[in-house]
Amino acid sequence: MSNEAALFLRQFLSNPRDVSSVVPSSRWLARAIAEGLGPNSGRIVEFGPGTGRITHAILEAGVSPANLTLFEMNGEFVQHLKTRFPGVTIHHGPAQDAPRLLAPGVSHVISGLPLLSFSGPLRQDILRAAFAILAPGGSFAQFTYADRPALDGEELRSLGLRAELGRKVWANIPPARIYRLYKA
Ligand SMILES: C[S@@+](CC[C@H](N)C(=O)[O-])C[C@H]1O[C@@H](n2cnc3c(N)ncnc32)[C@H](O)[C@@H]1O
Repeated sequence: MSNEAALFLRQFLSNPRDVSSVVPSSRWLARAIAEGLGPNSGRIVEFGPGTGRITHAILEAGVSPANLTLFEMNGEFVQHLKTRFPGVTIHHGPAQDAPRLLAPGVSHVISGLPLLSFSGPLRQDILRAAFAILAPGGSFAQFTYADRPALDGEELRSLGLRAELGRKVWANIPPARIYRLYKA
């Protein structure tokens, strides 16, 4: 087992609700959620990077480290991310703090958070935080193992959002579906 896989498993065992998976996302899922990003994508924010599988794919797509900001609650993951991704801004704290710490105008928020295992109020706080920093037309990208967005129609309506389902990535444990949320 690689050091990253072992770190991920240890953090899952000590925080099952927040980490929610025993293995990181596959590189195929990470590339799929970062699809379309590039050097001209503007400021990107990632919620819940864990060991950094998706972070790596965002940088590999051409986003400059100076344009990437991470929010990760787990201190051991934060230490790992700081070593692995010099030049990327890393906040050790919850995604809900983003509007307090960042100026609006972010192009895309990419989330690896286990939104489905969160309570409705927490999920809604996270979405409110994301759309408070996003520029008009900005998107919130998320993957799900449940083949449907973590928010039902009523929750989306109450937040003024709409969902677009993206493709399914079979090469992941378990297979995952990408979706994007936009202001309705
Ligand atoms: C399912 S893991 C995903 C890790 C990584 N994105 C991946 O796809 O491999 C969820 C991550 O979200 C972090 N997390 C959970 N709640 C959070 C919150 N409110 N704000 C920021 N990070 C959070 C966990 O510590 C964990 O690193």
